[in-house]
Amino acid sequence: MTKLFIRNIRVSSINLYKNYTTITKPATSLKINDKEFVTDDYTNITPKILSYLNRDLHLKKDNPISIVRQRIVNYFYSSFTHGGNPIFSVYDNLSPVVTTKQNFDDLLIPEDHPSRTKSDCYYVNRKTLLRAHMTAHQSELLRSGLDNFLMIGDVYRRDEIDSTHFPVFHQVDAVRSQRKEQLFQEHSGLELFEPMFDSKNPHMFENSINDPNKQSCHSLEATKLMETQLKTHLIGLVHALFGDNVKHRWVDAYFPFTHPSWELEIFYENNWLEVLGCGIVRNEILANAGPNNTIAYAFGLGLERIAMALYKIPDIRLMWSEDSGFVSQFQNKKLNEKITYKAVSSYPQCTNDISFWLPSDVTIDTFTNNDFYDLVRDVGGDIIEQVKLKDKFVHPKTKKHSLCYSIIYRHLERTLTQAEVNKVHKEIEKAIVKAFNVVIR
Ligand code: DAH
Repeated sequence: MTKLFIRNIRVSSINLYKNYTTITKPATSLKINDKEFVTDDYTNITPKILSYLNRDLHLKKDNPISIVRQRIVNYFYSSFTHGGNPIFSVYDNLSPVVTTKQNFDDLLIPEDHPSRTKSDCYYVNRKTLLRAHMTAHQSELLRSGLDNFLMIGDVYRRDEIDSTHFPVFHQVDAVRSQRKEQLFQEHSGLELFEPMFDSKNPHMFENSINDPNKQSCHSLEATKLMETQLKTHLIGLVHALFGDNVKHRWVDAYFPFTHPSWELEIFYENNWLEVLGCGIVRNEILANAGPNNTIAYAFGLGLERIAMALYKIPDIRLMWSEDSGFVSQFQNKKLNEKITYKAVSSYPQCTNDISFWLPSDVTIDTFTNNDFYDLVRDVGGDIIEQVKLKDKFVHPKTKKHSLCYSIIYRHLERTLTQAEVNKVHKEIEKAIVKAFNVVIR
């Protein structure tokens, strides 16, 4: 299925997004930001997705994403100083095109981890993808000698389509590392590592994560002190963003690159909202990248989710809006000013269903939903508000498999007519017949 979809994109002769990509016929390479990449059977990046590169909402003055970025950066700049200077450095201009080594291997993400699949990521080719998280830059920045840093940028994940999911979003990811003398300023004599661990030869020791409290190489004192600092710093951040009265809770979590790991949730507008993931960086990552005498914590958070909650923005697509009705509500504000987004007007939705028979070699369980969602978005563009699987059906006699999806169309800035929706819907039908070899019912 996926292959057919890719072939469909690769043979088309388009030169839509100057500066970003040129796909020529027959496409064996892809140009992204003036760099040429060889394509292969893993290539699943679409022209639509490439059009989001370089939009840099996180750096766009007055965009809600950028306002939240600035507030987070300010919190770290002002809370952590040495001799009056901020100790955190900020990287917000790193290329989103990364290697599988950066995005997965360096972070100890296993070879068979589901987050690596083609149906979850936008691959440029087998070895290259659009970063799926900002943590992808952690190892290279550690390797370059940095100890305290924030990485901020756009990340790309294949996902369902609804008011809170968009294939491109923005994250802040961070590392704070400390040497023994820094961590134990007030308790000299304590050690970062267990006595049997030789930090000069870290590879001689199998660092296990079986103990829920700590990695086997770390001392309990170091881990607990780091945990306390991590939690205090992150609650401080949440208070700076949402106010001192916001309720929070810590939830145990698992990430391949940290141990122990947690998620922080806040009680906001009557719901528990997950705001970030964090933990103590696996020592293998630090040792492979260079520093063998530090312990570090790391965390990552999504900017859209925070901006949507803070400013009551009901639809994630609005972040991309250039409409003055949206943009003006965030202009000329003080950084910490309370802003409550008011819908300019809510234009009506239009729902059309699409049902089709799958080809005989595909079943309702093997059909890749994310391929379908990407194609719908490619053809329909930003008027696609949501795509929902409505029905699965296996014909009792012919044993043919069929799927039905509802596509909800809505323009953010005007009313769509049924006639124009029908036209786009027909285009989508044509495109899926071609891409997936299905028969419209
Ligand atoms: N990279 C994770 C994600 O995208 C979030 C995260 C969790 C980042 C823990 C971290 C971390 O740096 O320590 O879901």
